[in-house]
Amino acid sequence: MKLVVNGEEHVVEVPVETSLAEVLRDELGLTGTKVACNEGHCGACTVQVDGMPVLSCITLAHTVSGRVTTIEGLRDHPLVAAFVRADAVQCGFCTPGQVVSAAALVAASPEPTVDEIRHAMAGNICRCGTYPKIEEAILHWRD
Ligand code: FES
Ligand code: FES
Repeated sequence: MKLVVNGEEHVVEVPVETSLAEVLRDELGLTGTKVACNEGHCGACTVQVDGMPVLSCITLAHTVSGRVTTIEGLRDHPLVAAFVRADAVQCGFCTPGQVVSAAALVAASPEPTVDEIRHAMAGNICRCGTYPKIEEAILHWRD
């Protein structure tokens, strides 16, 4: 199968049951995408497909025809610095998924309200409880 990830085309040969997260991490070495629950509950594995947040742990790789963006493809996004400024990271395990979801939000709505942020980020769980700081980072992502 062919997969376009962060603007690069890749050809991978994997069993049909392989998830997008497995392809990204195990075949392409893009380990910035984290897998926590592996059941579609936590958002740690969020990537974008054609700009929309997608849970890569429950997405079969062979069903993906759009362009995939992972946290590696967002390394220069202003949100990364905004998360650091707001101190929105503790253990950091959820952070790649948080940034990927937030990047999709600000692309669609560059000045999101708190309600929009809470709605867009509802699928991204942080067991360290950094939610207020994540909100602050997104509110001030362009500062
Ligand atoms: S690891 Fe995919 S939703 Fe939790
Ligand atoms: S920073 Fe630890 S889970 Fe979010």
